[in-house]
Amino acid sequence: MDKIRITGSISPNPLKGKIKISGAKNATLPLMAASLLTDQSIKFTNCPRLADVFTLETLLNHHGVESTFAGNTMTLTASSIKDHCAPYDLVRKMRASVLVLGPILTREGHAEVSLPGGCAIGTRPVDLHLMGLEKMGASIEIDQGYIKAKAPKNGLQGAEIAFPTVSVGATENILMAATLANGTTKLINAACEPEITDLVNCLIKMGAKIQGIGTSTLIIEGVKKLSGAIHPIVADRIETGSYAIAAAMTGGELELVGTSLDLLPTFKGILEATGTTFIPVENGFIVRAPEGPIKSVDMKTAPFPGYPTDLQAQFMALMTLADGSSNITETIFENRFMHVPELARMGADITLSGRTATVRGVGCLKGAEVMATDLRASVSLIMAGLCAEGETNVGRIYHLDRGYEDIENKLKACGGNIRRYRDGDTVQNDGSAKENTG
Ligand code: UD1
Repeated sequence: MDKIRITGSISPNPLKGKIKISGAKNATLPLMAASLLTDQSIKFTNCPRLADVFTLETLLNHHGVESTFAGNTMTLTASSIKDHCAPYDLVRKMRASVLVLGPILTREGHAEVSLPGGCAIGTRPVDLHLMGLEKMGASIEIDQGYIKAKAPKNGLQGAEIAFPTVSVGATENILMAATLANGTTKLINAACEPEITDLVNCLIKMGAKIQGIGTSTLIIEGVKKLSGAIHPIVADRIETGSYAIAAAMTGGELELVGTSLDLLPTFKGILEATGTTFIPVENGFIVRAPEGPIKSVDMKTAPFPGYPTDLQAQFMALMTLADGSSNITETIFENRFMHVPELARMGADITLSGRTATVRGVGCLKGAEVMATDLRASVSLIMAGLCAEGETNVGRIYHLDRGYEDIENKLKACGGNIRRYRDGDTVQNDGSAKENTG
């Protein structure tokens, strides 16, 4: 199994240079699912080459979608839907697979999708996805671990759907279903993450009629047919924020290219409060570490435009080196603190009480053997490793490959001492890994 080894430094070993930010994973996945809504081709540019994207490509191929994926351009054509069932084996690899439900149901009148099952960061039910589709007239049965959904004979019907909790996935699933429904659908308390806005923009290019872009109320007037489109995928704000924190932690300065601070409004304010500075430049921004000690700041996650839960673990890594103590409250997922014991192995001082972690800054972190527990936790360990004394070996990095395109090379090019190796290989001083044939 692959691992990542980081040789850190407590004396400043700042990250310096330019990093091109990839297209957003969380925008790519719903956009790919939207290809099921039309028999014409959709071409995505700026498409990140990530494990989750390949997993969804395989699932779409299973449904009959033809795909090509060269460089960062993906073309998907769903001339017809050949299989209406998303099987457990493919869905269990990635929860976002449930996003095929709305599109297949609305286009074909019936769909089956395996229930995604548990997840390290919380129970993550799909009840809101199902509630929305039921409001649109679908009959839904859960049978042997599968969601079996049927639309009325004349198709899904427009409806008013008020979400009791903000859900990114449920908003996307119902939004896509509504584009081909009969009549008007109103989504109240919809998620308004930039990835949803990106999906809305692409659906509009495909001929969908949607009002309320970027707000929590979306009004969708169903149309009979959607067409193909060409769509550049929005920058990954979580990758952007992760590298911004890495710059702040290592005392460095990075130019992040192909992205925008507008994607991270609350994050920007919180990082500025730590002493980090941002300078907008054409097509991106420069992020510069605090001049003096990193100031401790309290932070609470919230749906967009609040502080993203997907940048909580990384912020915690930053606060382990801050001057003072910080309270970090997770409001989105009930169990998203799996990185706490791993950071503690590196010398972090963190106490957990319910949904709040109190982080007391320590003078320095120490390299250790640690385990990635989920996608964002894994990157927080890498960032901690960059600032720790000695070597940090991060296991289970397949989590990392789900969401960070080319991370080793991006960090290496900016001075990070990081390399991937296979357990059992001997890592050379020059960073290359020699296969252990013994
Ligand atoms: C998406 C993101 C994920 C991010 C999360 C929150 C993708 C592919 N993933 O996940 O990276 O961390 O948004 O910003 O875009 N919930 C229910 N019932 C439902 C659906 C959700 O109770 O039917 C709850 C969840 O358990 C969670 C909260 O709502 O506590 C928010 O989840 P949601 O916004 O749906 O997250 P995802 O779309 O799964």
